[in-house]
Order: sequence, then structure tokens, then C-alpha cells
Amino acid sequence: MDHVELDREDRIRRALQHLRDDTTDQWDDTVTFEAREYTDPELAKRERELIFGRVPSIVAHSSEVPKPNDFLTMRMPSNQVLIVRQRDGSVRAFVNLCRHRGALLEEQPSGRCRLFSCAYHRWSYDTDGSLRAITRDNTFGDIDRSRFGLVELPVQERHGFIWLIDAAGAKIDVAAWLGPEMDAILGGYDLADLHCVRSEGFDEPVNWKIMQDAFLDGYHIQYAHPNSAAKHIHTNVMTFEDFGRHCRFVAPRKTIDRWIDEDPGDRSLASHITETHFLGPNCTLLRQPDHFQLLTFRPDPARPGYSRMEMRLIVPPVERSGMDPAKWRKLWDKNWEILLAVLHREDFPLLRASQTAMVSTSAGPMVLGRNEVANQLFRRETRRLLEADGT
Ligand code: FES
Ligand SMILES: [Fe+2]
Repeated sequence: MDHVELDREDRIRRALQHLRDDTTDQWDDTVTFEAREYTDPELAKRERELIFGRVPSIVAHSSEVPKPNDFLTMRMPSNQVLIVRQRDGSVRAFVNLCRHRGALLEEQPSGRCRLFSCAYHRWSYDTDGSLRAITRDNTFGDIDRSRFGLVELPVQERHGFIWLIDAAGAKIDVAAWLGPEMDAILGGYDLADLHCVRSEGFDEPVNWKIMQDAFLDGYHIQYAHPNSAAKHIHTNVMTFEDFGRHCRFVAPRKTIDRWIDEDPGDRSLASHITETHFLGPNCTLLRQPDHFQLLTFRPDPARPGYSRMEMRLIVPPVERSGMDPAKWRKLWDKNWEILLAVLHREDFPLLRASQTAMVSTSAGPMVLGRNEVANQLFRRETRRLLEADGT
């Protein structure tokens, strides 16, 4: 095993020791927080501007726009967005709005298109965003077309993901945002060689931070998921690494149990864990033994009590899997159905009900424990972005 793998085995062994001792990695202190953090429109506005309008977040896997002219559209907290693969293989992002009278330019969630043509008066734009044609232009009047191309947004591809800042004019540097540790960790996964086999978005009546918190939480498993996840994963046991804006933690699966009493020696225990990465500001990347799951959480453009979660299953492509395509498809479809069932039956009802409780005007302070390490980091970093308001 190389250095990286040895280091990992070490983190797994620390988790195993926690299991033996009934302990877990801990944060320095408990911290209190208020219900209004999930309901206040003024705070929600600051989050849209100071978080999503300033730092990169993942909006897709590169395999979702594999070829030139492939596009995706999405609603970010502050902008409608159109992402297009260019003829030279790069990716560009634009505000998805026609510069004539502001129609939504592309209405499909994804597709392939050489020319974006507006449904209202048929102006058309090249995939590079330039204004190509004005209909009836002998009557329209003279305008400088170069001023009315699509408005460009900062976008960058790195580690197989497409990252975007939700504000025109911002400078994007994903490597700098990730920092040397997380950039190297993601670099080591060769995520660009994998394939996004399933993806889906869920618009939920829940604040994005309540949603994100639930998917960094190793404490609720046995209580909220007794007959599903808790059968496979231990509750409240984590080895944790703080990388500043991001973090990573290992949670042991129940298959590790025979090594609680027996000495595993120097055999690899990698198949007995799940490894979770929080990629600030709004993303959980789960590394499973043979694939990845990506979960992203974005605030609604206006309502603090609403958000959109997107889930992606990122797997070795069929050519590399050595599997028959039908079998490959069936395997991942089954995996996907299991994930969806837990979300819809167990997590979403709980989280929707949390949001209804959070509107209580006399809620009183609430408290985050020392054992809730990843939630502590998420909270610390969200606040840090809001406090460093750049003015
Ligand atoms: S609004 Fe798009 S062409 Fe008029
Ligand atoms: Fe859960």
C-alpha cells in the first residue's frame, strides 16, 4: 500500500478503536443556534450573495455534458443558468435569459443545441453566448450586438465536476477554494473518468442548511433509519479531519464488527467504511467502495424555507466495469432505488417537519453537540463566509 492508502487505513483503525471504546472524534465545544437562521429572509439574501455569489459550488458532473453543444440549465439562488460545452471542449456558463425582453432562453433541463433560439421573438445566440440574429432587424433599429450577448458567469471544470459562482464578474479559482489538502484528495479519485449514471433534483419545503446538516450527520442513523441505513452503518462513530473550508470523515460499516475483538493485523479494512467529504459551501461527496454519491443543497431564490437538493450517482463507466450493459444498468438502478426510498420515507418527512417547527417564534436556543463534528464545521464555515462580507 502507498502512503495515501496507509494513511487511510490509519484513519479506519482510529474509527475501529472508537467503536471499541464507545467514543468518537469531537469538536472543542458545544454551540447554540437560533431558529431564525432557517427562516429569516434578510439572512437568506446575505447567503445568496455572500456565499453562492462569491465561492464556487458544484453544479454538475462533467459527464452530464460530454460533447460540444451539450447543455444543462439550472436555477441557482441568484440566477437562471445555462451551461454549454463549447466546440473546443471547454465549458461556459451564461445567465439563461434572452437579452431582448428577458424571456427564459432555454426551457429544457438538458439537451444538445447549436443555436439557442428564443421562443418569444426568435432572437438567437451562438453556444459561445454571442447574439447571432435579431428577427426583422430592418425594423428593430440599430443596436451594438456585442453589448447584448448572453451574460457570462464564472465556471470551471476540475476533478470531473463543473463548479460555478452565481454572480457575473466574480473570479473563479476552484483549486484555491479547495485548498491544497482537499484539492489533492479529489485529484486522487480520478472522478473525471467516472460517469454520472443517475441524477435527480428534489424541491423541498426545507431550508438548505437543515437539508445539508442531515447529510453530514452520523448521530441520527440508528434513530431515524433503524430498518435501513442503521443495519449497515454504525451510529455516532467518526474519525474526522478539518481542512478549513472542507472536511472528511470515516464512519465504520457493520461488516467491520468482527475486527472489534480480533486484531485485523495489516489487512485493508477499506471495504468496511463509508468516507464522507463535505465540500463547502453546500455539498456532500460520499465515497463508497466502488462508486461515489454527490449531494448538493441550494437555497431557493426567494423563500428561506425552501431549497433544492440534487443527488447524483457517479460510477465506473460500463466499458470499464467489465459488465454486460443491461446488468450494469440494473445494478445502479437498484442502488438508486434504495437511496431514494430512504430519502423519501425517512429523511424528507423528518426535515419538512423540522422546518415547520423552526417557524416557532418562541423556539428558544438549540444546541449542536461536540460529537456532531461535520455539522460544527459546516456551521463555522457558513458563518465565516457571512462575516467576511468583503466590503
Ligand atoms: S424576449 Fe427573446 S426574442 Fe424577444
Ligand atoms: Fe438521514
